[in-house]
Amino acid sequence: MTQDRVLIFDTTLRDGEQSPGATMTHEEKLEIAELLDDMGVDIIEAGFPIASEGDFRAVSEIAKRSKNSTICGLARANFKDIERCAEAVKHAGSGRIHTFIGTSPLHRAIPNLDMDQMAERIHETVTHARNLCDNVQWSPMDATRTEWDYLCRVIEIAIKAGATTINIPDTVGYTAPRESADLIRRLIETVPGADEVIFATHCHNDLGMATANSLAAVEAGARQIECTINGLGERAGNTALEEVVMALKVRNDIMPFQTGIDTTKIMNISRRVATASGFAVQFNKAIVGKNAFAHESGIHQDGMLKNKETFEIMRPEDVGLAGTSLPLGKHSGRAALRAKLESLGYELADNQLKDLFVRFKDLADRKKEVYDDDLIALIRQNDTVE
Ligand code: KIV
Ligand code: ZN
Repeated sequence: MTQDRVLIFDTTLRDGEQSPGATMTHEEKLEIAELLDDMGVDIIEAGFPIASEGDFRAVSEIAKRSKNSTICGLARANFKDIERCAEAVKHAGSGRIHTFIGTSPLHRAIPNLDMDQMAERIHETVTHARNLCDNVQWSPMDATRTEWDYLCRVIEIAIKAGATTINIPDTVGYTAPRESADLIRRLIETVPGADEVIFATHCHNDLGMATANSLAAVEAGARQIECTINGLGERAGNTALEEVVMALKVRNDIMPFQTGIDTTKIMNISRRVATASGFAVQFNKAIVGKNAFAHESGIHQDGMLKNKETFEIMRPEDVGLAGTSLPLGKHSGRAALRAKLESLGYELADNQLKDLFVRFKDLADRKKEVYDDDLIALIRQNDTVE
């Protein structure tokens, strides 16, 4: 892997599905995994095999079917979880076990382990995972609220025990971009053996900073981003795949990193995940929202009709959309109205357009959006054209 290649680890089917109410059926998971595989996702976290019979079946089946992606399953820090996970991912051309434990003071209190006991548990479980699979990812859950010295100590243990990827989760979306970058940079500089593994960033969006935090981590040396389609995930969600991938593509001038994602497949999978999870995408969501490439105001529409770069920093075709949309509403101007009429096959003289524009504004004041049929009705009402 070249230094500027960033791996995309998609966890829509694991962390995304953990979102309350987002449960997907077996068939939906297989279909989404196929789309992820096809769009160039490097690693698909397909589920948590010990969590249920259904999750085990889904991870095993996805592992059997995957063509290009590495298939990963999640396991807590115990032998039973790890063995179940190994059993599920063994069918993949390339499989990975992802094992984790909460290392911050708050999380250490839950299994009631002191620092030494937890360190010993990490050593035993990562060693066991590595004996069952060549590809092992280890995560200190709540890393961003773990004491610095202890974090370095446990990461070193995990690397020595055979972990090949070290993931740094911001489990509760607490960090901020500069801190996210500093943490990754200092870990890579400090922990012995850090240069032999890949560091990953796994951010949650509780303060709306997941994308910024992930990109800052990449600039500081992380080479795997963990993310989900549409940012699906617990609470405010995870880093959105479409956002980090398009940010790296559009601002490659200042973030010179490559992913293997075919971005023209983004819209299709976004829609599929929205239907399968039942989580509609907000209209103004970056990249995949209904309004992400729509312009209603007169000034913007006029600009777009003259030169698309006036108000768009990326091409809608690059994310799999047919094109820009210029919906007509009360903020729209004459230029957009004329363009719409021409696309519907109506050529209006200037005086006819002037008259129609007044009646269009009147209707637009009463209606959120003026559709093609509304316009045709307006034209016919007054016989503006034959
Ligand atoms: O957010 C988190 O800490 C996780 C871990 C299981 C990696 O999802
Ligand atoms: Zn998470």
